[in-house]
Amino acid sequence: MKDFKRYLITAALPYANGPIHIGHLAGVYLPADIYVRYLRAQKRDVKFVSGSDEHGVPITIRAMKEGVTPKEIVDKYHAIIKDSLAQMGVSFDIYSRTSNQIHHKTASDFFINLYDKGLFEEKETEQYYDEKAKTFLADRYIIGTCPVCGNPNAYGDQCERCGSSLSPELLINPRSALSDATPIKKKTKHWYFPLQNYESFLKQWILEEHKEWKNNVYGQCKSWLDNGLQSRAMTRDSNWGIKVPLPDAEGKVLYVWFDAPIGYISATKELTDNWKDYWQSEDSRLIHFIGKDNIVFHCIIFPAMLKAHGDFVLPDNVPANEFLNIEGDKVSTSRNWAVWVDEYLKDFPGCEDVLRYVLCSNAPEAKDNDFTWKDFQDKNNSELASIFGNFVNRTFVLMHKLCGGKVPKLHEDLMDDLDRTLIEEIKNSKSKVENAIEEFKFREALFEVIDLSRKGNKYMQEKEPWKKAASLERLAASEENGSKLEAHSSQQLIDNCLHLCLQLTANLAILINPFLPFTAQKLLHMMKVVDKILDWENAGSIKLLSVGYSLRAPEILFRKIEDKEIEMQVEKLKNGLVRTDTSSQLPDAVNQKSETSNQQPHEINHIKSEIVYDDFAKLDLRVGKIVSADKVAKADKLLKLEIDLGFEKRTIVSGIALHFKAEEIVGKQVVVVANLAPRKMRGIESNGMILMAEDKSGKLHFVNPDDETDAGSVVS
Ligand code: MF3
Ligand code: ZN
Repeated sequence: MKDFKRYLITAALPYANGPIHIGHLAGVYLPADIYVRYLRAQKRDVKFVSGSDEHGVPITIRAMKEGVTPKEIVDKYHAIIKDSLAQMGVSFDIYSRTSNQIHHKTASDFFINLYDKGLFEEKETEQYYDEKAKTFLADRYIIGTCPVCGNPNAYGDQCERCGSSLSPELLINPRSALSDATPIKKKTKHWYFPLQNYESFLKQWILEEHKEWKNNVYGQCKSWLDNGLQSRAMTRDSNWGIKVPLPDAEGKVLYVWFDAPIGYISATKELTDNWKDYWQSEDSRLIHFIGKDNIVFHCIIFPAMLKAHGDFVLPDNVPANEFLNIEGDKVSTSRNWAVWVDEYLKDFPGCEDVLRYVLCSNAPEAKDNDFTWKDFQDKNNSELASIFGNFVNRTFVLMHKLCGGKVPKLHEDLMDDLDRTLIEEIKNSKSKVENAIEEFKFREALFEVIDLSRKGNKYMQEKEPWKKAASLERLAASEENGSKLEAHSSQQLIDNCLHLCLQLTANLAILINPFLPFTAQKLLHMMKVVDKILDWENAGSIKLLSVGYSLRAPEILFRKIEDKEIEMQVEKLKNGLVRTDTSSQLPDAVNQKSETSNQQPHEINHIKSEIVYDDFAKLDLRVGKIVSADKVAKADKLLKLEIDLGFEKRTIVSGIALHFKAEEIVGKQVVVVANLAPRKMRGIESNGMILMAEDKSGKLHFVNPDDETDAGSVVS
């Protein structure tokens, strides 16, 4: 491979329209951070940049739903995201934001550069317009009935129930997702970037010169290129974003996917005066870490823009990941089916590395993968704690007990095959981990590190130094001839074992550092050594700790995670009501991905495990009638319902506020789980639960008798 002088590593700029969840970490930020920490340990010249993506429809929608300005939205979420990433140990050199002046200038200049070269096509087209919301509507924001399958909530570009690809004019009764108004057509002018002119360049550059890219990335690029590229508008009608830097462009801004990737350049500028070394010098290696929904932008559109500009290097690799599902289902922010990083940090203080470990060892590197809380617990308890943690702990405890708390000597003349094999394993692990990281196979790399600790455990088990210690005691008490000599050599064997285990521990610190940096620091503290020891070139050595050096007492690296903690998380996820500040009533695809989503909605694809009749019979289901409904203060998802059950009235708090207006549901019949244990939500005691059906698009429907039935009637 080409030898690069410098590395510029970018991680996708998250939309500042909500907090980040563990899918973001697993897909983008952790792999990027692992790679960067590895490069830094190798003393390479590397810069790691990212920031918040603060423009585009995702932000304006969110602002509209929360009834605040876009600026308030981005300020709020930029701070939350930045903080979550920092706490998780994602070690950016800069985490910037696209609302910064320097970015507006950089992106405008970039646009003008292409404009001056005559590279844009100027086109006037008719676009859908929402007169109520006073805004043009992207196809995704037009909802109506699918002409193919009758789904009442099909999008203007696709029906997610039957998969038909649509256009807004095909929808029956089209309405705006923003205001429910019927969209009209209105003329508007935009600047288009003719991607087709870059097709042959892209084919050569990707399909011929970058065959080493990951299969999922290469495959997606190939399919885009095989299907042929078309002009794409690089401007939008909106008031939020970077103003199009041309006269006659009132009310127009740069397309968010034009400005956002330029954010990598702006952030580098903000970071260092030498930014050109990273962006404009052929011996610099640019790598974009992203999720799979960003592939076309980073592999096709942005490179074409860079090529058109002419001054910049192109990405050398784009190791995109697939998606991480949660407990078997796609992440859904509107249903609150997600594990939020800021909440994890509160619920599991001091367990940042546990999450890093679980997400890396289960990263969706080649295909979508699943996160489950049970697996989280298992990985912590039976891998981190009982293999890695256990090895380190035993080593330190025994070293204190049998070697006076100091690094014992290695008596080479007494080494046996087990010792020599272990030394060999330590040496080999360096290149195993290294090769895997270089190929962006972080799961495999991490596995190798844990495997080394597993080998350490096995070695210790075979050596049984504690047994030798017991016989030492016996010998010391004995007056027999030769017992002194025997005791002496027993101690030497103990020394050898612990010497090697300690050197192995130092190696573990180096190798685990890119993955679990907090743990590496704890190990350094225990070994009383400085950061310098973590230099990658030290890996493989068994001369890292000097003989006679006294070490600290061990600290527990990974505590056990209890069943109770896991059950709480699963419940939190399933009741979906915990978070009131993260989602809008729009379906997720609209919510998160704006115009280019290829995410599928929630699949109703699995049945819970079987129950017996008695389980069912425990439920007391009753017909009730909603007599009043009120919004709950500071909880935009919750409605406080008064339900008449005939024999009594109940207060039930229900998470349906984003789906129904309070006044329109009064008088409705509902089915109530009448014997559900009371629960407090936002200070209100909720006594029971009402049943709702959720369709594929995420819309909720009441479950009720098909004609007026007495309140209190038993449902069975
Ligand atoms: N905000 C986009 C998303 O979350 C990613 C932008 S990456 C960048 O999907 F390159 F455009 F910055
Ligand atoms: Zn359909």
